[in-house]
Amino acid sequence: MAHIVSTIAELRSAIAALKHTSVGRARIGMVPTMGALHDGHVSLVTEAKAHCDHVVVSIFVNPAQFAPHEDFDAYPRTLDADLARLGDAAAIVFAPNAREMYPEGFATGITVGGPSAGLETDFRPHFFTGVATVVAKLLIAALPDIAVFGEKDYQQLQVVTRLVRDLALPTRIIGAPTLREADGLAMSSRNAYLSADERKVAATLNVILKNAILQARRGDLRAAEMAAESALTTAGFDSVDYVAIRDAESLSVIAALERPARILAAAKIGKTRLIDNMAV
Ligand code: PAF
Repeated sequence: MAHIVSTIAELRSAIAALKHTSVGRARIGMVPTMGALHDGHVSLVTEAKAHCDHVVVSIFVNPAQFAPHEDFDAYPRTLDADLARLGDAAAIVFAPNAREMYPEGFATGITVGGPSAGLETDFRPHFFTGVATVVAKLLIAALPDIAVFGEKDYQQLQVVTRLVRDLALPTRIIGAPTLREADGLAMSSRNAYLSADERKVAATLNVILKNAILQARRGDLRAAEMAAESALTTAGFDSVDYVAIRDAESLSVIAALERPARILAAAKIGKTRLIDNMAV
């Protein structure tokens, strides 16, 4: 069972105790999460373990990345089940409360430009400042050698990579592939919100993106995006925020597939907003 800590001071001393061994310095990996852990998160921990000696998992539903109308209150909080799911895979679980992360009078926000422009930001303008601020605080608290983020949140992965590079934080960011259900639906804590009928619609997202990739490879990226948007509506999504084919690193708009590219999409079924992405 992991050592559970809830303050930054406890986290630092628990990490220091793990780091300094009689045979040298152990390498520390971190997997930041908001809990409600599923197999996708476990795969991030497994990826981290491949690069380090001990993994720290943080579990914190970060209020700063939710807008007032979003699902902060409803977001599943399942600490006991999360700890059971992690078992011995994490050496330390950091589960702070909001006061620990945002003490009275907290007045700092980190804004990353570059890859945060457009896509999620067009629909969730507060989101990446909330993510970048909490991730910076977690990385500065733990100073891990590596930290693993899922490709499922691809724009977030690029934003965090840029944050760490720009601020010269001493952590290597590693992206881990998206884990999928048998029908291809990307694993997400928010899948728990889907009714049985919505779950069937959700499964079409990955298929539609695969078709869009084939169409994009034939040449017209904008036509492929538009065809995918209308296929999502036909499949039963209530609204489509975007389907976009972008440069895989900068996420800037591209006219042709001359460099590695990524297709990214966000769409809503009922109250549930799903995102997915794939290499083109
Ligand atoms: O991807 C998530 O679960 C969150 O955005 C993160 C990175 C843990 C920051 O709160």
